[in-house]
Amino acid sequence: MFSGMWFLHIVAAISLGIFFCIASSSAEQAPYPSFAKDAKLAPPVMYYDYIVIGGGTSGCALAATLSQGGAKVLVLERGGLPYGNPNITNIGGFPATLADTSPTSASQLFLSTDGVFNHRARVLGGGSSINAGFYTRASSDYVVAAGWNPRLVNESYEWVEKKVVFQPPMLSWQSAVRDGLLEAGILPYNGFTLEHLPGTKVGGTIFDQNGHRHTAADLLEYADPTNISVYLRATVYQILFRTTLAGQKPKAYGVYLRDSNGIRHMAYLNNGPMNEIILSSGALGSPQLLMLSGIGPAQQLKAQGIKVILDQPNMGQGMSDNPMNAVFIPSPLPVELSLIQVVGITKVGSFIEAASGFFELVWAHRMAQQVPMVENQTGHPSTIPFSESMQGAMPGPDPYRYADIQAGVILEKIAGPFSTGHLELQSRDPNDNPRVTFNYFKDPRDLQRCVQGLEIVRQVVESRPLSSFRYPFATMQSLMNMMLTFPINLRPKHVTATYSLEQFCVDTVMTIWHYHGGCQVGRVVDQDYKVIGVDSLRVIDGSTFYNSPGTNPQATVMMLGRYMGQRILQDRNPH
Ligand SMILES: Cc1cc2nc3c(=O)[nH]c(=O)nc-3n(C[C@H](O)[C@H](O)[C@H](O)COP(=O)(O)OP(=O)(O)OC[C@H]3O[C@@H](n4cnc5c(N)ncnc54)[C@H](O)[C@@H]3O)c2cc1C
Ligand SMILES: *[C@@H]1O[C@H](CO)[C@@H](O)[C@H](O)[C@H]1NC(C)=O
Ligand SMILES: *[C@@H]1O[C@H](CO)[C@@H](O)[C@H](O)[C@H]1NC(C)=O
Ligand SMILES: *[C@@H]1O[C@H](CO)[C@@H](O)[C@H](O)[C@H]1NC(C)=O
Ligand SMILES: *[C@@H]1O[C@H](CO)[C@@H](O)[C@H](O)[C@H]1NC(C)=O
Repeated sequence: MFSGMWFLHIVAAISLGIFFCIASSSAEQAPYPSFAKDAKLAPPVMYYDYIVIGGGTSGCALAATLSQGGAKVLVLERGGLPYGNPNITNIGGFPATLADTSPTSASQLFLSTDGVFNHRARVLGGGSSINAGFYTRASSDYVVAAGWNPRLVNESYEWVEKKVVFQPPMLSWQSAVRDGLLEAGILPYNGFTLEHLPGTKVGGTIFDQNGHRHTAADLLEYADPTNISVYLRATVYQILFRTTLAGQKPKAYGVYLRDSNGIRHMAYLNNGPMNEIILSSGALGSPQLLMLSGIGPAQQLKAQGIKVILDQPNMGQGMSDNPMNAVFIPSPLPVELSLIQVVGITKVGSFIEAASGFFELVWAHRMAQQVPMVENQTGHPSTIPFSESMQGAMPGPDPYRYADIQAGVILEKIAGPFSTGHLELQSRDPNDNPRVTFNYFKDPRDLQRCVQGLEIVRQVVESRPLSSFRYPFATMQSLMNMMLTFPINLRPKHVTATYSLEQFCVDTVMTIWHYHGGCQVGRVVDQDYKVIGVDSLRVIDGSTFYNSPGTNPQATVMMLGRYMGQRILQDRNPH
């Protein structure tokens, strides 16, 4: 088998390992030590004008903006700082963070009932502190459909980009994929651009030329330090509502949180008609915390013993994750360590992206070993045919699965998607994952997009520019067969002589971590992101989306934080 040949080339790629060794200051120190502190230092009772729950991708942009308007802003983030930890700050640490399943890890593993491993951020900067860094704006059609003001959208993107966005280096592998996409007819070539344009382009990245990550947490450098407090390792357990006269809406007035010693603190809104609590806890965290606070499907809340403040059957509905399928291409030539830099925006509703480097396959194996723990967490061992699928996924001992291999990856993500699922509480503990179902490929249009996308991947793999980066016998078919031997998910595998692209899509689906929904505009929040049916509460993050914006969402999530911060201040301080 050709697997033996990769092994000979591993040594040649060791030089790439330097990315893991780049020295960085080891102390966890924020560039803004005056206002970012551990929650153990927080007073037992605090008063602010805005309480932002979640210092993530949107939350940091939002809070920095609000602090510039003369109001007092509190950010409560359950994770720590993204500074000083090389797993986060260096591009080579990307897999290490995802593999770290300790309770203090910046990533929290979850397993959807679909049998796909997934991750959610637990760190200041949120997803931008653990993601693959690709930065690309939403299309103008997306902006129109969202009902946003295009000029303020542009200004908000620019505000983000000035601080955290760079042009990627485009070395040998990424350049070959770019040229392969052009040979496959994904035209025109749009060069380096942050715009969403059909064809092939090079996008932005939050990694600088030294492979050093910049995150949404850096946007807090814009904050007015005298008007903001950021508490870290501050887990919010509940939003509190005051129900006054009959016929009046329940009003959010405070939150209850715990620090890492489990000590309880209270944060309340100052009196004032414009003061608000804003949830930016992400697509899992925001619907989860609203349900824990009594807003959600009444039956489900009662089953957990939660007092119902508002029966909201749409809460946790419309959860979607864009399915990702990929082929892993062992390379005879050394490849650079890269996450995403180039993208093919096809006409068939599918985006083609690539990564490369020195793959620690032991990582995938270690993830698989976490399954019993994750199943415990999700509390639904029976929903996933674990033992069956694991036998299918890991047939017999294979030393290469434990080795490090230089390789490229070409992936395909479908736009949308059309398929949606839902989120349910599993317990009353906000530290537990909710139970999430995405229903990958339930809508046949998603499967069609996947197949058409993989056809383009096949053309790129077999293109001339890629030829020196793959072994001659590494056909698309053999690469697909190899994917089936990796423990990339817990779904049953259906290996047959005439293995179809359809079956490959379904069997080897992974996440590209662009999950969204749960608190969608028009269903849970209104056009101003105010939670329908209650007062003084908004949700501003990826949980409000119907579709993932652009080819990758983080640009638009950060933009939305800035955008809504500006709009909220315009209402607060009318001229
Ligand atoms: C591994 C990975 C790779 C990705 N790659 C890319 C990419 O290359 N390009 C791209 O554009 N997008 C990428 N994404 C997607 C993108 O990063 C996310 O869509 C985006 O960060 C989501 O932002 P958010 O503000 O909605 O949520 P988040 O950024 O997740 O923020 C939510 C925050 O709330 C906090 N929180 C949650 N619950 C509580 C609570 N109860 N109390 C206190 N705090 C709480 C969390 O700790 C977190 O910091 C990737 C995501 C991941 C996970
Ligand atoms: C910060 O808040 C104070 C009031 O608490 C206000 O006087 C000051 O102008 C604010 N700073 C900014 C930049 O708005
Ligand atoms: C980096 O990741 C590794 C592997 O997942 C983990 O063991 C280690 O503790 C992490 N380091 C830090 C500083 O978090
Ligand atoms: C926003 O920016 C894009 C790209 O620079 C441009 O095409 C568009 O016209 C701008 N829209 C507005 C309203 O300024
Ligand atoms: C699963 O949960 C049970 C009960 O809480 C516990 O006894 C067991 O050790 C857990 N198993 C794993 C693998 O975490």
